[in-house]
Amino acid sequence: MKEPTIPSPSSSAPRSTGTGRTRAKAILVGEHAVVYGEPAIALPIASLPMRATARREDGPLMLESVLYSGTLADAPEQLAAPRAAVEATLDHLGLPHTGIVLATESTIPAARGLGSSAATAGALALALADLAGRTLTPQEHFDLVQVGERVAHGNPSGLDARTTASTEPVWFQAGEIRSLDLRLRAHLVVADTGVHGRTRVAVADVRSFLERHPARGAELIAELGQITRDAVDDLALDRPRELGARMTRAHGALAELGVSSPELDRLVGAALAAGALGAKLTGGGQGGCLLALAADTTSAGTIAAALRRAGAARTWLHRTDARHPAAPAQVSLG
Ligand code: PMV
Repeated sequence: MKEPTIPSPSSSAPRSTGTGRTRAKAILVGEHAVVYGEPAIALPIASLPMRATARREDGPLMLESVLYSGTLADAPEQLAAPRAAVEATLDHLGLPHTGIVLATESTIPAARGLGSSAATAGALALALADLAGRTLTPQEHFDLVQVGERVAHGNPSGLDARTTASTEPVWFQAGEIRSLDLRLRAHLVVADTGVHGRTRVAVADVRSFLERHPARGAELIAELGQITRDAVDDLALDRPRELGARMTRAHGALAELGVSSPELDRLVGAALAAGALGAKLTGGGQGGCLLALAADTTSAGTIAAALRRAGAARTWLHRTDARHPAAPAQVSLG
């Protein structure tokens, strides 16, 4: 793993329109344990991009999005997180809270553990910085997105804020990221249960499990941490079978902690029956999405079809060795 290099802040002339790009993320392993200081591995999903623009136009601060179009001040509760991040970004950049129209174009389903709130806040922050002719450092960008994430999740680990801004898979621990040596040639099927994930509730339920069963809870968190550390070698040494087995074990540990759901368990079972090397929930859980690991494209297609037959609302395919040439990083690991 190499240390990320931090691009230095730069500035150019303010523009009439600014653009920001981020993308969805999927947690490969380590969710929930990461809240207790263990590491996690997360992947940006380039096929689920988020684009935001900011343009100068007289009148109040406006937002145009699929969920809502109108003044940002009157945006519904669901948009409280991006709104908080936008307000913090305007203050940070010394921009007025008026005379700007923000717009988002998103392909990321909301509340499915794919980082939609962080990706929205992150793209909007980048668009505003671009409008102001500024480049945000990774830390500045992270801090601004976290303002919104705290509204959305209470006590977020920062994993979403980091990964949705990255174009490379990341190792994440205690708020810091490292890039990963990734040589795994496999395919991930991302499947949506169609049920909203409940990250805030799930995080609280894990805390309650740890209070009620401290010894078993500590064992499960440590097991998830070890799975993540071992997964690093699987990724570097191209060991899909080993990684798959670890993913399925991680799902078992997360289920015992109380963050799976009947839909997730059913779809994990369907993926394994259709030949997946492993499968697990991803993100906060209690709904949302799951990941199934497939050895090749044919198998990925078979698993995706089986998941849809078993009730998945949508599926997406992601190559683990995908690079993101079409989506230049605005916040880079270097
Ligand atoms: O549901 P998501 O995609 O926001 O992921 C949450 C990940 C957790 O580890 C459960 C919480 C966190 O803050 O890291």
